[in-house]
Amino acid sequence: MSVHKEVKRITTHVIQAMKTNGEKITMLTGYDFSMAKILDEAGIDIILVGDSASNVMAGHETTLPITLDQMIYHAQSVVRAIKRTFVVVDMPFGSYQGNSTLALKSAIRIMKESGAHAIKMEGGSEIEESIKRILSAGIPVMGHLGLTPQSIYKFGTYTVRAKEELEANKLLEDAKFLDQIGCFSLVLEKIPSSLAKVVSESIEIPTIGIGAGPHTDGQVLVTHDLLGITKDFQPRFLRRYMNLFDDIKVAVESYIGDVKSNSFPTDKESY
Ligand code: KIV
Repeated sequence: MSVHKEVKRITTHVIQAMKTNGEKITMLTGYDFSMAKILDEAGIDIILVGDSASNVMAGHETTLPITLDQMIYHAQSVVRAIKRTFVVVDMPFGSYQGNSTLALKSAIRIMKESGAHAIKMEGGSEIEESIKRILSAGIPVMGHLGLTPQSIYKFGTYTVRAKEELEANKLLEDAKFLDQIGCFSLVLEKIPSSLAKVVSESIEIPTIGIGAGPHTDGQVLVTHDLLGITKDFQPRFLRRYMNLFDDIKVAVESYIGDVKSNSFPTDKESY
């Protein structure tokens, strides 16, 4: 039986039921109305309005520069498009770290102004107070452990995290902590597959992996990577389903050729 096929709207309860029933959860990033409409119609379970918009949409090198206002703008565009999908919005860098009052205010702004269904935060016990205050306001929180891109300048590189025992133990403890305080799901980014398996089996809430192997309860990719719009990003975990960069380029070259040669528009394409 597929939980996903039977429900009219995806909720946190549906997402939990998928783990209970052994049905994998699908998540993709979305930042705009047109793409979100396609993802929703295709039947994706969760759209993540990721702060990867900072890279993919705005062209920044990291996720750090994107602002709360910009995240809300992307989230509003996505929410307008969806009928069934659950929408989660990343809390951007600087909107929650080290200040739980600010964290609560930022989360409330996202929920109020965008109409999204949940927020995502990077980190474990070090952001305990912020997560707890947001949860106490009735806002569902998705955790994010492993490679947390907002801490890139602490890590120094985008390589696999938690390969060493110390970091792996801390990650497992943080995952149990996020489960216990009431997060509804947890993203595991770029960690060994064996560790992702242990974590997924040790906690009640669903894990959603990116570069974390096949044992997580769901998978997430950046949509622009899956579609081959971002051409130069080629990590091992990425499966490309299209090469849209090249396809779009060919289409645009054809359009340029047609306009330059006066073959577009024809009489039939004119009034
Ligand atoms: O911002 C993002 O796209 C993410 C995913 C990679 C999980 O956080």
